[in-house]
Amino acid sequence: MEKKFKRTTVTSALPYANGPVHIGHLAGVYVPADIYVRYLRLKGEEVLFIGGSDEHGVPITLRARKEGCTPQDIVDRYHNLIKKSFEEFGISFDIYSRTTSPVHTETASQFFRTLYDKGEFIEKTSEQYYDEEARQFLADRYITGECPHCHAQGAYGDQCEKCGTSLSPTELINPKSAISGSKPVLRQTKHWYLPLDRHEDWLRHWILDEHKEWRPNVYGQCKSWLDMHLQPRAVSRDLDWGIPVPLDEGAEGKVLYVWFDAPIGYISNTKELLPDSWEKWWKSPDTRLVHFIGKDNIVFHCIVFPAMLKAEGSFILPDNVPANEFLNLEGDKISTSKNWAVWLHEYLADFPGKQDVLRYVLTANAPETKDNDFTWKDFQARNNNELVAIFGNFVNRALVLTWKYFEGKVPAAGALTDYDRATLEEFAGVKESVEHYLDNFRFRDAQKEAMNLARIGNKYLADTEPWKLAKTDPARVATILNIALQLSANLGIAFEPFLPFSAAKLRRMLGMDACEWGLLGSTSLLAEGHQTEKPELLFEKIEDSAIEAQVQKLLDTKKANEAQAQTAAPVAAPIEYADFEKLDLRVGTVLECSRVPKSDKLLQFRIDDGLQQRTIVSGIAKHYQPEELVGRQVCFVANLAPRKLRGILSEGMILSAEAPDGTLSVVSPQRPVQPGSQVK
Ligand code: 2FM
Ligand code: ZN
Repeated sequence: MEKKFKRTTVTSALPYANGPVHIGHLAGVYVPADIYVRYLRLKGEEVLFIGGSDEHGVPITLRARKEGCTPQDIVDRYHNLIKKSFEEFGISFDIYSRTTSPVHTETASQFFRTLYDKGEFIEKTSEQYYDEEARQFLADRYITGECPHCHAQGAYGDQCEKCGTSLSPTELINPKSAISGSKPVLRQTKHWYLPLDRHEDWLRHWILDEHKEWRPNVYGQCKSWLDMHLQPRAVSRDLDWGIPVPLDEGAEGKVLYVWFDAPIGYISNTKELLPDSWEKWWKSPDTRLVHFIGKDNIVFHCIVFPAMLKAEGSFILPDNVPANEFLNLEGDKISTSKNWAVWLHEYLADFPGKQDVLRYVLTANAPETKDNDFTWKDFQARNNNELVAIFGNFVNRALVLTWKYFEGKVPAAGALTDYDRATLEEFAGVKESVEHYLDNFRFRDAQKEAMNLARIGNKYLADTEPWKLAKTDPARVATILNIALQLSANLGIAFEPFLPFSAAKLRRMLGMDACEWGLLGSTSLLAEGHQTEKPELLFEKIEDSAIEAQVQKLLDTKKANEAQAQTAAPVAAPIEYADFEKLDLRVGTVLECSRVPKSDKLLQFRIDDGLQQRTIVSGIAKHYQPEELVGRQVCFVANLAPRKLRGILSEGMILSAEAPDGTLSVVSPQRPVQPGSQVK
């Protein structure tokens, strides 16, 4: 029997406050969560939408170290930026707080204490790498070394990014601390562990038997975790950033593991918003808990957090965890560190006012069942061919014709034709299917169905052609426009969850006050004689030039990344000073320079070396025009034994620096010097 719930607590993963948010975040978590919450609110249901920033964890400390500031500076900066982006995109949180809030520190500490007092943890001592110079234990990511499998350098203590193998830090060959560069040593350290193995039986039954309705990707991931059997998981870390482990003894320098405190953040933020009534949202059996997350968070939300809640004893468990797969960008994985992303704040700077276009495209392409790709071409096509050509066009025609023939007042509907009735019937069925999809977290299909309302309307006007009947049959025109306006009003409701800005604009143009899900499907939303507003365009065409600019931006990023990826050549074996002294490096002035006939590589120089003139042949013809070098000073090896190149005796070698792409730049003194000056 289906359970009857009175209210729904909706959470969306707390993004790490170590960078801005991008389209992957929006598509994977926040847009679907927002659609769902707006839908429930429209239905008049009791719902709470919880968000916030995840402000602990190693990546934040790494970023702070890199930028030479404190972790608090980093999270302050990004928390505010992220919060603003969400507001701008209409993500309608009831609260967006942060895990550095005092309420959260208190709540997470209390949660740990309760579990500790109930004997729900085990204590274990293990050996972990310690940096003696930086005087701290090293999180797995802080340790790099040679991969034992593919022998790539720079593998991390938890994974080799070259061959993808999961590692533990002790497997690395020649481990190095990412903080000081020194060789870490193994030291004993004590931590508290949540013995997930103790929870395995009930988790297995609860997920695999009682939640078969979860998305296949979520259910499948849980099943494979459970089939591999669960192990105790440490809930503390040796780190100086986080919530101190709230114990009097043996907890010095230890903080709660970020994945222990972050999900408790959902509870803390509810408490911060509703200090007196938060418990009903978390403890009442008639409350339904739904977590919106990305696929990398599945194990924490379906296994670890439920085990924590169960161990505490007074909380409800999630009813569903609609996790999405990943969104790629133009065929490549979105990456913050490689700047391969469309950042929300940058999108809005380039496409002001077009929040709904992005919401629409991200939902149309939502990675619900598999990873999906965002491309700028598809973005443009969906805007121009769907939002503009179907939705916008229909509504605009309905309103423009109403103004043309009826001064903007809703005309009276007369007798309906069979075609009118068929249109209305087709239209009435859409409500049910949109609901069905939304109830089952199938947001792409739901939006597609909502779009069908606009398609039906567009086709209706195209087929009935009221503009041709104005002179001959004004009563028929009135009926057609009445129907078209009622359909438009329905769009103002149906699209409220998906495109809240455009739906509000549409309702304003139609002068609609009421917006309730229950009214969807009604053909009398606008009374006869009701005054509409002069229409404005709901959506605008996006030109090729705007898309080309975005594609170029990504190409530039790719180029910059490729150049960076070409790391400098390893330093050669050491030499003695006496060896260096053997080199006679000097500055000379170029008197003449010309191409060597029949060679596309070689230039022939005549150089004033301070004592006499000498000839040098150098392989830089692809990088310089001869005339641009005449008069310039260059550094050269003066005592290199002469040798013949293409029949020309070259008396020395001109020094050049080689860029990662192979471009050569001649090395010159920064200020003019006497020809023949020695380079030391
Ligand atoms: O993966 C992430 O971005 C995490 N910060 C998500 C945390 S979700 C919750 F537990 F807070
Ligand atoms: Zn490897």
